[in-house]
Amino acid sequence: MTLDVVILAAGQGTRMRSSLPKVLHPIAGKPMLAHVLDTARLLTPSGMHVVVQPGADQVRRALAGDITWVEQREQLGTAHAVAQAMPGIGDDATVLVLFGDVPLVNPQTIRQCVDHAEAGHLSLVTAILRDPAELGRIVREDGAIRRIVEYKDASTEQRGIREINSGIMAAPSSLLSAFFATMRNDNAQGEFYLTDIVEFALCNGVRVEGVVTDNEMEVAGVNNRVQLAEVERAKQREIAEALMRGGVTLADPARLDVRGNVRAGRDVFIDVNAVLIGEVELGDGVSIGPNVMITDSKLGAGVRVNANSVIEGAVLSAQCTIGPFARIRPGTELAENVHIGNFVETKKARIGKGSKANHLAYLGDTDIGAGCNIGAGTITCNYDGFAKHRTSIGDDVFVGSNATLVAPVELDDGAFVAAGSTITTKVENGDLAVGRGKQRNIKGWTPPHRRQAK
Ligand code: UD1
Ligand code: CA
Repeated sequence: MTLDVVILAAGQGTRMRSSLPKVLHPIAGKPMLAHVLDTARLLTPSGMHVVVQPGADQVRRALAGDITWVEQREQLGTAHAVAQAMPGIGDDATVLVLFGDVPLVNPQTIRQCVDHAEAGHLSLVTAILRDPAELGRIVREDGAIRRIVEYKDASTEQRGIREINSGIMAAPSSLLSAFFATMRNDNAQGEFYLTDIVEFALCNGVRVEGVVTDNEMEVAGVNNRVQLAEVERAKQREIAEALMRGGVTLADPARLDVRGNVRAGRDVFIDVNAVLIGEVELGDGVSIGPNVMITDSKLGAGVRVNANSVIEGAVLSAQCTIGPFARIRPGTELAENVHIGNFVETKKARIGKGSKANHLAYLGDTDIGAGCNIGAGTITCNYDGFAKHRTSIGDDVFVGSNATLVAPVELDDGAFVAAGSTITTKVENGDLAVGRGKQRNIKGWTPPHRRQAK
């Protein structure tokens, strides 16, 4: 028996008031629809059919891969939407229906739902909510599910029911095909309701199984940006809890945002307002200060990132210290125990073991050896207005404060650069380069504003 997953995503998403299709709005940095697809993949289905509006190029482009795109020309209802996918699904398949705008679906719940359908039943994921709002209500008699009533069609009494239809269901494809052949749209919204399949199944002797979840968020749909934020918070809470269980201390789990994947070692500490984006790896004992943003980077054991630093596309070896107020840009590779201090920017900079740039510097397109000291205010002038050039610095080089290194230029091992120098030619091993105007003191100087008074 094969499993086919049908994901509905043809709705307009009008209430988002957005030019971005609803299902592409991100949760934890990933489009809602990608969350649904990734969860569905855990069931190793033989097909994933995503129902979209005609065109939907943006959605198709954003989510390439193992997907069969199905067009629904007019949005005539959820049953009509699923029916569009049926030509691509075999007669003896099991079909799982998910919604593209219900991103936190739980793999265990949908597994259970599919298990019931594989046994020949119709299976629905339901939830008991404090505020069931305008969701479809589950009508039971003697405990058994009898039908789903849409809010707009429900009586006052039915509106009082707190068990709702999540929209997630699984059924044998033969049951779906038979239902689609007879479905009608004579209801309050003039739509073909997938929910009508419950009564159809019961009339045809098919058992209806409910999988009731107690987690509201796994069935939470996103129709507007208020709900988007609620789902985002729930997802962030889940990520924070997983990190804490894995040995990370969070100063406040509500003030961490992960938009990607974080792999963390033991005894990592993350202070408030950290934003971690893309693929981030934090070694054992890493400490992240408040208000830090880290994107696609790898931090070795014991790295300390002080407050208000921004790190992107970098590899920082063990025991480096960064910031406060440092900006580490893509292509930065720091060897062990490098110190990058406040108001230092690095880009495509490979810096050797134990080297330090503690204050106010721009180090771009440069190789710096081990044991160097880069003085405050040092600038690698990597751009001549046309092309970028590299600055190459050996081991144990001392660059005095406010040096201007005009690339391409080379400082050999053990070179010295005097403070305030502009360096345009190579400095050999052990030499001191002094490239600045000579100081001249004028004796007994009278400033102009005092001269007239005399
Ligand atoms: C549906 C259910 C309701 C359930 C609720 C849960 C029906 C009739 N009602 O209601 O019982 O409580 O979901 O959120 O099924 N879609 C299409 N094509 C269409 C219509 C919808 O692809 O023609 C997609 C939408 O993009 C969305 C999903 O199906 O992802 C649900 O559609 P929506 O209109 O939001 O259904 P509800 O009226 O909320
Ligand atoms: Ca909805």
